[in-house]
Formats: sequence, C-alpha cells, structure tokens
Amino acid sequence: MIPSNIYIGKSLKETVKDYFSKNSFSKIGVLVDENTYKHCYSILKSYIPDHFLIQIKSGEENKYLDTCTHIWRVMTEQQLDRKALLINLGGGVIGDMGGFCAATYKRGVSFIQMPTTLLSMVDASVGGKLGIDFEGFKNHIGVFQEPLAVFIDAAFLATLPKREVKSGFAEIIKHNLIADSQAWAEMKVKSFEEFNWEDAIKHSVAIKAGVVAKDPTEKGLRKILNFGHTLGHAVESYFLPIPEKKLLHGEAIAIGMIVEAWLACEKHFIKPTDLKEITNYIVKQYGKVSITPDEVKEIVPLTLQDKKNESNVVLYSLLEKIGHANYNIEISESEMYDAMYYYISI
Ligand code: GLY
Repeated sequence: MIPSNIYIGKSLKETVKDYFSKNSFSKIGVLVDENTYKHCYSILKSYIPDHFLIQIKSGEENKYLDTCTHIWRVMTEQQLDRKALLINLGGGVIGDMGGFCAATYKRGVSFIQMPTTLLSMVDASVGGKLGIDFEGFKNHIGVFQEPLAVFIDAAFLATLPKREVKSGFAEIIKHNLIADSQAWAEMKVKSFEEFNWEDAIKHSVAIKAGVVAKDPTEKGLRKILNFGHTLGHAVESYFLPIPEKKLLHGEAIAIGMIVEAWLACEKHFIKPTDLKEITNYIVKQYGKVSITPDEVKEIVPLTLQDKKNESNVVLYSLLEKIGHANYNIEISESEMYDAMYYYISI
C-alpha cells in the first residue's frame, strides 16, 4: 500500500497547490542543484507559496559535510525557525543531504521530498534514510527521519537523460526480485522502453513502503532492500574517483544484483535457471562493465564498511527464491571473490 503522505502522478500541480492551501509554514526553502534549478524548478516555482532558494552543486562528490555547512548557513541566515519547511527538489543526493540538514537543523525542521530522478522516486525518497558520504564511504553519516510528504511527479523523468532513468530502473528490478515473482515474470520479457513509469513507480513504492512500515530503522527485514547493494556499493565506491569508469548508482547495483544472485545460487536458494535469467536480463539492459581481477582485489575489501555488517562479518541480503529475500547471510571473502569472478566471466 502507498502511504497517504506519498503522492504519485503525472503533473502534480493541483495536488501540490492543494497541499499548500491546507498546510502553512513560517518560511519555505527550496533546495536545488544547477540541474533541477534549470529543468524542474521552473515547473514548480509558480505553484508553491513564497519561498527562497538554496542552490548546491550536483553530484555524489558533493554529498559531504562542506555542502551541509553551506545549507545550514543559508537556513541560519534566512532565520528559519522550527515551523519552517525545506523542500528537497532533486535526486538522491539532494533528498538525502537536504533531509539530513533539515532533520538536524535546530534538532529538526519539516521537509518534503520532491524527487526528480527515477532512482529517488522509487527508492531514496521513501523510507526516511537521510545522510551524507564520509571519507569515501557512502551514506556513512546519517539519521532516519520521515519527510512530511513526498510528491513524485513522473513528468520530471522527461527532463532526464536515458542513462539516468535506466539507473533508477535497477531499483525497480530489485523490488520485483525481492518481493514480487509475478512482476518479475512480466518484467523479464519486457524491455526498459515498454514501461509505463507512473504504474511502475506506484508498484515499486508500494513494495518499498510495505517493507519499511514493518521495520523503519532496519533492525532486520528492511535489510532485504539492500539486495545487490553490498558488492554493488563496493563497486560504486571503487569507481567513484575514476572519471572514465565512474558508474551511476543503479549501474553499480545492477552488477551487485548479478554477483549476489550468483551467491544465492551457490547457496542453493535460487535455481541456476533463475541466475541465468537475472544475469541475461540485467546484462541486456546495462551491458557488461569491464572489471579486472586486480580491481576485484580492491573492491572486495570495501564490503567491510557495509552498514549491515556485525562484528566484522560481512552480512548479505540474498534472494531466497524469486520474489523473496532473506538477510544476515554470512558470506566469506573467498565467496565474494568467486562471485565477482562470475561477473567477469559472463
Ligand atoms: N535503499 C534501501 C533502503 O532504503 O532501505
């Protein structure tokens, strides 16, 4: 079920207007980057009440404390009190970092997520995970805090390059694999171009919100949403500082889903035919990224920083079967190497 504070549609102008006619705030700030300022803010600005702008530079490389300092400084200069509102208009970086700044400024002001990428629509904007990167580790510093509301307007997808939309598509694949075997069966014979995004977003958000409702602060079950993310994050972090090999989040998670599906097959949770279907579908959508054995040696140790780990043991969320996942599955270093070598060999 989609929670009542999450609004999904195509062109939400009237919904947003209606919301602000019923809810008032002492002051409203809108956080944008140069891309959302150019492509999305012009659509939004006429239908939200008086507000000021905070602009930051786009990109994961700016999801750091220095940028938070800038955001908190503008909030302070604008004399925001605790009845103020911050609207985060952007992708995962804006949502995670803007939410983090709002949740910590004066111990917390309200914020609304207005995701503009498919990735943030189906994942980051739902479930209240907020934070920033730290010394190369993704989302290392952060809090859980639910937004007041989320407005997901599929019309923003038209402002994005196809590569960016495809990156978000990886999280839709993930949601189907971990929670809906029927949706996976329908998906695996369909190409990326055939999706109706509004429907796909609603379906994915319902899956994610359903898991989050059962375990908001990730004590257990919510970890299943990290399928593909343990080695996927390691791959993403490793390539982040290498401009010619840098991957978008979903592209790294697509690799992560293949290698972690291999682990699930190795543990006899899923069938070799399932592994083959997952591998073929993902490679068809994303192509294959060249990773060398020397790079694998650098990537595998990065999993030691994964937030799901306990007592230095790397714990995975793996498919139990198609449409179901389990968590806290211990995987040895040599299994991780073998999983990465599987990817290299396909
Ligand atoms: N992206 C996984 C989660 O929100 O739990």
